[in-house]
Amino acid sequence: MSLAFGRDHLAIPGPSVIPDRVLRAMHRSAPNIYAGPLVDLTAGLLSDLKKIARCEGHAVFYIGNGHAGWEASLCNTLSRGDRILALVTGRFGRGWVQMARGLGIEVETLEFAEAEPAGPTRLQAALQADTKHAFKAVITVQTDTSTSSTNDIPALRQAIDAAGHPALFMVDAIASFACEPMQMHDWSVDVLITASQKGMMTPPGLAIVFIPSIPRIPRRSGRGGIGVLYI
Ligand SMILES: Cc1ncc(COP(=O)(O)O)c(C=O)c1O
Repeated sequence: MSLAFGRDHLAIPGPSVIPDRVLRAMHRSAPNIYAGPLVDLTAGLLSDLKKIARCEGHAVFYIGNGHAGWEASLCNTLSRGDRILALVTGRFGRGWVQMARGLGIEVETLEFAEAEPAGPTRLQAALQADTKHAFKAVITVQTDTSTSSTNDIPALRQAIDAAGHPALFMVDAIASFACEPMQMHDWSVDVLITASQKGMMTPPGLAIVFIPSIPRIPRRSGRGGIGVLYI
């Protein structure tokens, strides 16, 4: 690769620029992936990631990009025919909805204007109207890269609680992780999803899903989908 004109910078929503220090650290031969230092490193990484998420439960790696995290979160918490509410503040929120529908989940959406964060008042009203508690989950994106709109996650949590609704709260922090504050435990986020190639400035290829230590998520068995959220 010629650097005669400087380094190329990829101008798409992600992956972000990988620092030279990280690129240099990858210049080594393939490690033993079954035993030894790589396995020890993995445990340390999971625990470090939990510190960034302020997660007191578990972190799980998926070999895939953010889409794999989306799929894992849906497949391991919901069943075909379940109904969820999606707060959409841009294209990535819409993408997660499309994936959920593809998995047979019924999705009702609350759309917000370009660059406007999701409003807790509308969320609370929608949940209060759901007197039979048909919504099994509320899904939202912390920062939707397509609009840069950043949602107030604790305010949305408060709206769910104020409505007295038992829906799971699932948050895509794929673009915002390690950039925006995240207090998964204190904000009672039930499922948090991120990926390696954005705020962490490492190569794409890892999705990370966080769940609390005592999940409110029913164990699923015998379903399709990628992996099991429980470890
Ligand atoms: C907020 C958000 N969610 C999801 C995705 C999809 O992630 P991936 O491209 O790693 O599948 C992106 C990608 O840019 C994103 O910015």
